[in-house]
Amino acid sequence: MVELGVNVDHIATIRQARRTVEPDPVAGAVLAELGGADSITVHLREDRRHIQDRDVRVLKETIRSKMNFELSCAPEIVALACEVLPYQATLVPEKREEVTTEGGLDLRPRSKVLLDAIDRLKRLGIAISLFIDPEQEQVDIAKELGVEAIELHTGQYAHATGSAQTQELDRLTRAGQHAIDLGLHLHAGHGLTYYNVIPVASIPGMRELHIGHSIVARAVLVGMKEAVFEMKRLIRSC
Ligand code: PXP
Repeated sequence: MVELGVNVDHIATIRQARRTVEPDPVAGAVLAELGGADSITVHLREDRRHIQDRDVRVLKETIRSKMNFELSCAPEIVALACEVLPYQATLVPEKREEVTTEGGLDLRPRSKVLLDAIDRLKRLGIAISLFIDPEQEQVDIAKELGVEAIELHTGQYAHATGSAQTQELDRLTRAGQHAIDLGLHLHAGHGLTYYNVIPVASIPGMRELHIGHSIVARAVLVGMKEAVFEMKRLIRSC
């Protein structure tokens, strides 16, 4: 059974647009769990554009499922992960100017900052997943680095159409099979939607899918009627 990790970052994006207290991603996470989420993902970006340090701490105390903490290798962020002790840390690349994570980690340089982050998290028993592009060499290096899991970047698959999308699915399937053969846990995410998720969920050995934007976008629409009803009721009561 493929597990669903719900990424609540964009609930915080709406809150930060007004620098207010609502909507609270912690409340969103609890509702996601009631809907069946197997884990809750948050990405504490270095620029704190959506999730804040407080969210990470309160989420860890509140949620009943597993916490998947997405983070760059920046030492101050790794330090917070070490304090909060999530079930899993997913290391991702991060560029300040990007709208969202634009590609997988390039593991080839085996950079000191990456090795240090893995070492610090591992010592505390936090499971580590590396977000990588679907390439055999990246999978091989992930195995060499001694992590539990890889998360395949599905962004290129999500943005492709027609035969190009079939080719991208094939790349994901091959890289996924290679990871399984090496004994790594297989995860995937980025750009998955209600329209393109089924082929990725059907990749043999897939264990976790991490989905954010599409679920938050759907939640805004399916909740709109109810929200307007509530406001009308208040106004009418005057
Ligand atoms: N997985 C990783 C590693 C990510 O960086 C993101 C985006 O924060 C996601 C999954 C979720 O992507 P999306 O919001 O497009 O579903």
